[in-house]
Amino acid sequence: MSKPTFYLTTPIYYPSGNMHIGHTYTTVAADTMVRFKKQTGYDAYLLTGTDEHGQKIERKAAEAGVTPQQFVDKIVAETKELWKLMNIDYDDFIRTTDERHEKIVQKIFRQFYEQGDIYKSEYEGLYCTPCESFWTPTQVKNGCCPDCGRPVEPMKEESYFFRMSKYQDWLIDYIETHPDFIQPPSRANEMLNNFLRPGLQDLCVSRTSFKWGIPVDFDPKHVVYVWIDALSNYITALNYGTDHDELFKKYWPADVHLVGKEIVRFHTIYWPIMLHALGLPLPKQVFGHGWLLFGEDKMSKSKGNIVYPGPIVERYGVDTLRYYLMREMPFGADGNYTNEALLTRTNADLVNDLGNLVSRTVAMIEKYFDGVVPAPNEYEEPDRTLIQHFEALPGIVEAQMNRLQFSVALSEIWKLIGECNKYIDITQPWVLGKSEEGKPRLATVMYVLAECIRAIAVYIYPTMPSTPARIYEQLGVTDAALKTWDSVKTFGQLVPGTVVKKGAALFPRVDIKKELEAMAAEREKEAKKAEKAEAKAQKNDEKAQQKAEKKADDGIASFDDFMKIKLIAAKVIACERVEKSEKLLKETLDIGNGQTKTVCSGIAKYYSPEDMVGKTVVLVNNFAPRKMAGQVSEGMLLCAEDPDGSVRLLTVDGDVKPGSEIG
Ligand code: MSP
Repeated sequence: MSKPTFYLTTPIYYPSGNMHIGHTYTTVAADTMVRFKKQTGYDAYLLTGTDEHGQKIERKAAEAGVTPQQFVDKIVAETKELWKLMNIDYDDFIRTTDERHEKIVQKIFRQFYEQGDIYKSEYEGLYCTPCESFWTPTQVKNGCCPDCGRPVEPMKEESYFFRMSKYQDWLIDYIETHPDFIQPPSRANEMLNNFLRPGLQDLCVSRTSFKWGIPVDFDPKHVVYVWIDALSNYITALNYGTDHDELFKKYWPADVHLVGKEIVRFHTIYWPIMLHALGLPLPKQVFGHGWLLFGEDKMSKSKGNIVYPGPIVERYGVDTLRYYLMREMPFGADGNYTNEALLTRTNADLVNDLGNLVSRTVAMIEKYFDGVVPAPNEYEEPDRTLIQHFEALPGIVEAQMNRLQFSVALSEIWKLIGECNKYIDITQPWVLGKSEEGKPRLATVMYVLAECIRAIAVYIYPTMPSTPARIYEQLGVTDAALKTWDSVKTFGQLVPGTVVKKGAALFPRVDIKKELEAMAAEREKEAKKAEKAEAKAQKNDEKAQQKAEKKADDGIASFDDFMKIKLIAAKVIACERVEKSEKLLKETLDIGNGQTKTVCSGIAKYYSPEDMVGKTVVLVNNFAPRKMAGQVSEGMLLCAEDPDGSVRLLTVDGDVKPGSEIG
C-alpha cells in the first residue's frame, strides 16, 4: 500500500540580506513537522526557497554595484549553507528566478488575463518599497507603512489588476465552512473582519517602474508584481502546468503552508482566489505563527536588531538551538528571544533532565550489570505507572504535533523524562545495588529506564535530529527497527543483553554568567567589525569618486575610454516627474527586443513628460546604475548644452529602431 502524502511549505524568503533567527524559526518548525510526518509513516515533502524579484532587490544590487542576479545568487548560496548548518532536510528549494518558475508564472498570468480575471488600469497609491506593498491613505500611519514603520512613497503607474472583488463572497463562505483552513482560528476572524467583510480591493499585479521581475509576455513593459510571482512557487515547484506534473498530482493540495502572521493575509485571501480562478483546490491549512521578538520589536533586517543563528550553533550545537526554538514559545504566539532564556533552558532541560538521565542510567548499568542491559523481572508499582505513561505517549505527542503544537509535544516528552528521573529517586538503585537480594529488582529498574530512554531518543528526533544517534550509541541500540515510531507504541522492545557504553555528556553544562558576557562581547565585536567595514566601504567609494573626478579633470579620455561607451537609440514610452526633485524626469525607455530601462535625466526645466513620450533618444546603455533622488537610473541620455546654459535633448530622426547601436 502506498503511504499517505503530506506536503508542507515555508514562505519563500526575500534574499535582500542574510537569513536570521526569525527565518530560521519558521524553517526549523517546518523541518521538524516534516521529519515527524516521515517518521510516522507519511510520504512527506518539504518545500522552501527564495522570493528573488522586486524593486528592493534591484535597488540593493545597484547599491552594491552588482547585477540583481549576482546579488541574489550570493545570498541564496549562504541561505543554503545556513539550512545545512541547521540540519534542514528540504526536498526542494525553489527560486523565483528559476526558469521552471518564470515560465509557468507567465502562463498563469496570461490565463488570468484571457479569462478576464486581470485587466489593465492605472495604480495610484502609497508604496512601501521594503515590504513591496501598496497601502491606502487610511492604512498608512503618520506617513509610514503600518507593517514596518518606514516612510511610504506616493506612486502612480499603469498596472494590471486582479479582480479580487469578484471572488469575495465565495471566499467568505469557504472560510466560514472550513474552520481548519486558517489556524490559529483567531487569524481567520481577523481576515474575515478586517479584510473580507469590509470589501476586497482589486490587487495590483504588475509594475512598470522596475524591471527585476518576470516580464508579462504579452506586454513586456510590465513585470509580474510580487504576489502572483511569489505565491505560485508552491505549485510551480511541483511542475504544475507542465507535461511532467507528477509531483503536482501527487502532493497538491498542500497540507500546510507555514507562514509568519504578517503574511497570513496574502496566503488566505489572494492565494485561495488565485487557485480558485485556476480551478485548483485550496491548501488544507495555512498556519500563521507568531513572531520571534527581540525586546519589544520584531527582529528584522531593517530594524538592525538581528540575531543570527551561526554563532549560537557554533557555541552550543544545532540541536540546542532547535530545541529552544520549538520549546520556548507556543507555536502561534509571539515570544521573546534572549540568550539568557536559551542558556537557562539548555541547563535545565537538556543538561539536567535529559543529559543526566542518560548518563546516570548508562553509568548504573555499567556499574551493576557490567554494561549489559538486564532482563526485567516482574513489574510492580511504580514501574506500571511509568509503563502506562510510556504507552500513552505516542497518541499524545501525535495529537499535539498534528496541531503544530511543538512546545506542547516537547513538554509532554519532557514529562516522561521527568518521570524517569523521579523513578530513580523513588526506586533508589544505589540502595538496591548494595545487596544481592536487591539485584532482581534493580534489573527491572535498569531495564525500564533503558527502554524509556530508547523511546525518548525516538521522540526527540524530529526536533533534535542529531542527538538520537548519540543516545543510541551509549545505549548500544543498533537495530533500525528499534528507532522507529512504531517501536515506541508498546513497551519492552529493547533486547536484554544489549551492551551499553558510556560516552561524553550529551550536552555540556554552561556557565550562564560567563556565556552571557562572552556572547555580549562577541556581539560588540561583530558590531565594531560591521562599523569598520562600512567605514572602509565609504572610504573606498570616496576614493573612487575622487579618482573619477581627477580623471575627468584631466580632460583626457583615451581611445579605450571612448570605445567603452555603448550608445543606442531608445524610444521614450513613458515619462513622469520625479517627486522630491525639480530637475529630474524619469523616463521608461524601449531599448529593443522587448526590453525596457528606466533612466533619470536633469531636463525637467526644458521638457514636460508629455513632450518626451514618443521621442527616439540616444542612451548611454552601459552606464553603471546610480541613485538619483531615491530612484535608480540605469543609463544616461545624451544632451547638448547651449552657450546660454539651456539644455536640449539629442534625438534621432528617421526610422531608427530602438536598440540600434549608434557609433
Ligand atoms: N517573500 C515573502 C514571502 C512570500 S511567500 C509566498 C516574505 N519574505 S521574508 O523574507 O520577509 O520572510 C518572512 C517570513 O520569515 C515570515 O513570514 C516568517 O515566516 C519568517 N520571519 C521573519 N522574521 C521573523 C521573526 N522575527 N519571527 C518569526 N518569523 C519571522 O515575506
